[in-house]
Amino acid sequence: MSKTGRDHITVILATGNRDKVKELRPLLEGISPLIRVSALHELGAEIEIEETEQTLEGNALLKARTIFDLFAERFTFMIALADDTGLEVDSLNGAPGLYSARFAPMPAGQSPSYKDNINHLLHCMSGKADRSARFRSVIAMKGALPSQGGERRFIFEKTADGMVHGTITFEPRGDGGFGYDPLFEVDSTGKTYSEMSIAEKNSISHRSLAVQKAVTTLREMFEIQNILQTTSNTPV
Ligand code: IMP
Repeated sequence: MSKTGRDHITVILATGNRDKVKELRPLLEGISPLIRVSALHELGAEIEIEETEQTLEGNALLKARTIFDLFAERFTFMIALADDTGLEVDSLNGAPGLYSARFAPMPAGQSPSYKDNINHLLHCMSGKADRSARFRSVIAMKGALPSQGGERRFIFEKTADGMVHGTITFEPRGDGGFGYDPLFEVDSTGKTYSEMSIAEKNSISHRSLAVQKAVTTLREMFEIQNILQTTSNTPV
């Protein structure tokens, strides 16, 4: 494998969340043997990007752009891929939404654990008749790919989204997954995400719907640019 990645396309996942990496890697590496997925920590970069935008799309783009800028010199052909996800509960006016990771109030300087957030959500939901909710994910990509014939590289930005409707349970159910998974019963299956295997969650989840759209977009770009032929030893 070359250092610059000219003979392959490095997809860098702009997340420090190992659970997400586990979910995303097989979906992305299935596109083409040219794709190598690396998580930030595998590249020696454990950075935390502050989510300062007011929408999931804005935050996802912010993260993808930041990671792209960090690695665009190191890898000739690369895609920085970031996602931002929110759980939106109707009877809480869309909360926790953008603040899903930091929902439970904590002492200054401390971040809530998944368990803190779950307990806080159950607390906020007590006495609510309407428990409908949705998970929404936005994937943003900023990349540099070989252009037709591989003589130059072109830069692109794309976003894709995915949504799943569900119901907040009265208590946690299941052992798998992460985050709010034990409380989110998917309407179409009657199971919480935590009651599903990784493969089952991956086949229907908000993030995998967004990733599938992102993958379709990438495949189309690869086809248009003839990237699936080869990228080896092409000048930039
Ligand atoms: P992020 O901004 O995409 O990292 O997601 C924010 C928060 O939403 C995470 O800290 C998790 O608590 C939660 N979250 C994201 N994705 C999922 C999921 O697939 N299942 C359950 N919770 C999730």
